[in-house]
This record gives sequence, structure tokens and C-alpha cells, in this order.
Amino acid sequence: MAKVVVDVGTDHARLPLELLRRGFTGRIVATDLRSGPLEQARRTLRADPAGGRIELRRGRGLEPIESGEADVVCIAGLGGSNICEILAQGFGKLVRTRRLVLNPLRDERLVRSWLCGVGWRLVEERRTSERGYDYAILVAAPGDGEA
Ligand SMILES: C[S@@+](CC[C@H](N)C(=O)[O-])C[C@H]1O[C@@H](n2cnc3c(N)ncnc32)[C@H](O)[C@@H]1O
Repeated sequence: MAKVVVDVGTDHARLPLELLRRGFTGRIVATDLRSGPLEQARRTLRADPAGGRIELRRGRGLEPIESGEADVVCIAGLGGSNICEILAQGFGKLVRTRRLVLNPLRDERLVRSWLCGVGWRLVEERRTSERGYDYAILVAAPGDGEA
């Protein structure tokens, strides 16, 4: 099981809380670019008995994490080009990362081709829908792509 999960663009911190509810026992770092969402996340976590196990950090993309810190990086609910930019800018920090869990709200093809271009491969893929829109959840692992 992963030891450190990083949720980039956590907003309300629902994803990290759900991980804990499902029995994740490792460390979770939840980041966001903006102070408003982080403040909201802080309130949500304070109200939850498990909330103290989630560390909040403010910053752009992967900037708030150390190189090699994340076993798993989740980026959900952002546009595909934003996701690619975050990964490209922080790519050097993914040296120990075993999985990327990506949920692009649009431009899904950009994400697929970016992953392929850097030599990561899709190991799992699911589709979900909300309010009539269809979204992908892409899980990628390093190696065996086309880079
Ligand atoms: C639509 S919310 C998604 C929230 C959550 N991840 C989800 O899937 O429900 C997008 C969040 O990402 C944050 N965000 C956007 N660009 C970002 C970036 N480059 N780095 C960090 N956070 C970012 C926004 O401030 C916002 O809180």
C-alpha cells in the first residue's frame, strides 16, 4: 500500500477524507493553490475525527511537495491542460511516484498523450458521470510507454 498520497488541488479535501474512511493508513498531503479552498478544507478537517491525519499545504501544482515524497499523486477535477502543466513542471519530483490518479474534466486526450510522451502507461481506467457529463479516471504507472 502507498505510504504517502498527495492530492493536488484538493479544494474541500473530500478525496483525502474518503481515502481515510476506506482504510488508508499512510500519510496524506492535500494541496491547493488558493487560500479560500484551503481554509474550507481546514474547517472540514477540523470537523472530522480523522481530519488531523491530513496535512494541508498551499502552493501551485507539485511545488509544495518534496522530490520523492509522493508514492501516489491524485489530481482530480482540473482541466487536462492544467493537469499536464502541473505534471510537466513538477516532473522531477515524481522520482519515487508509483501511481498517478488523474481525473481531467476536459481535454482528456491531452492527458493521455502527455503520459504516453513521458513514458508512463495507463494501468487502469474508469468512467464516471455527474450531472450528465462523462469523465475519465486514469491511473498511470511509470515505464513501458513510448518515450
Ligand atoms: C474544481 S476543484 C477540484 C477539487 C477536487 N480535487 C475534486 O476533484 O473534487 C479545483 C481545485 O484545484 C485548485 N487548483 C487549480 N489549479 C491548481 C494548481 N495549479 N495547483 C494547485 N491547485 C490548483 C483550485 O484552487 C481548486 O480548489
